[in-house]
Amino acid sequence: MVFYSFLTTRSLSLSSAMASKIKHVTVIGSGLMGSGIAQVAAQTGHTVTMVDVDVVAVDKAQKRIENSVQRVAKKKYGDEEEASKFISDTLGRITTSVDAVTAVGSTDLVVEAIVENLEVKKKLFSELDKAAPSHTMFASNTSSLPIAKIAEATSRKDRFGGLHFFNPVPVMKLLEVVRIPETSQATMDAMTAWGAALGKITVQCKDTPGFIVNYLLVPYLLSAIRLIERGDATMEDIDTAMKLGASYPMGPFELLDFIGLDTMKLVNKAWSTDYPEEQAFQMVPTLVKLVEEGKLGRKSGEGFYRYRK
Ligand code: 3HC
Repeated sequence: MVFYSFLTTRSLSLSSAMASKIKHVTVIGSGLMGSGIAQVAAQTGHTVTMVDVDVVAVDKAQKRIENSVQRVAKKKYGDEEEASKFISDTLGRITTSVDAVTAVGSTDLVVEAIVENLEVKKKLFSELDKAAPSHTMFASNTSSLPIAKIAEATSRKDRFGGLHFFNPVPVMKLLEVVRIPETSQATMDAMTAWGAALGKITVQCKDTPGFIVNYLLVPYLLSAIRLIERGDATMEDIDTAMKLGASYPMGPFELLDFIGLDTMKLVNKAWSTDYPEEQAFQMVPTLVKLVEEGKLGRKSGEGFYRYRK
């Protein structure tokens, strides 16, 4: 508890000193993570442009944000008038776009949360680098790719870092702020302060696979799948065991379905290719099979478990 209050104090003091640097944020990618990031930024007074490739995607994201902001408002305010002001102020700070290059023409920070594909991310950042003002900082929310490799596409490695959020973004308190060797101290300070301004507790880490959380979490989730592949226990029993025996809010299979099996497969593929000697990262056949069958977890209605639409 003492440790937690220390972190909070540290984050708040940084926040008051530096949060003013980032006022307008452009979030590229409006999936679960991108829309969550846009939402928490808008909730905390930042203006936000949320970008995706087409209007169908941004409309879907806006609906997701509306639902989530309503849940947050209900929890935050007993008074109905205050709650509805919070909702309309938050939604009023978010504009949408389908043109990333134009959207970054005037922005303090770009947070990218698009598909986990290095070449696609590099192409995007190389275009944004030419269009964004020189003071604009760039961050990727990647879970599995090296930030340094993405930053190579730009001429602003000193203003480039990782901002790794957790799903559901409006609820999860942690933000990992990731440094590549070239990231300047000013950029780290500004990104850390922005995290605090969002109400997150920040931790700083180097650009290593999985940073802190996923380096520990991903092998745990893959090991749970290996347990059922070997027939050592059922997934229901494993979920019960980890919830009741380790006090995790979700069992590994519930969490896998929640994160998305497609996302997990991309992480598994990238790490097993990049670190073939690492046993913990080896490909897990069940994950590949489920994704091939279109069973992506909660978002598709079925993963390890079935969900009602
Ligand atoms: N928006 C706003 N509020 C939300 C929300 C959302 N999307 N989802 C949940 N909430 C709020 C609810 O309103 C509720 O508030 P209340 O306590 O005031 O009623 C509270 O959160 C709890 O929600 P629920 O009652 O619906 O459900 P649970 O108690 O089962 O909690 C959970 C849901 C917060 C998702 C919890 O199960 C949990 O913490 N699970 C673990 C999640 C986790 O580990 N995430 C990290 C994944 S790894 C990752 O993201 C990294 C990536 O790189 C892979």
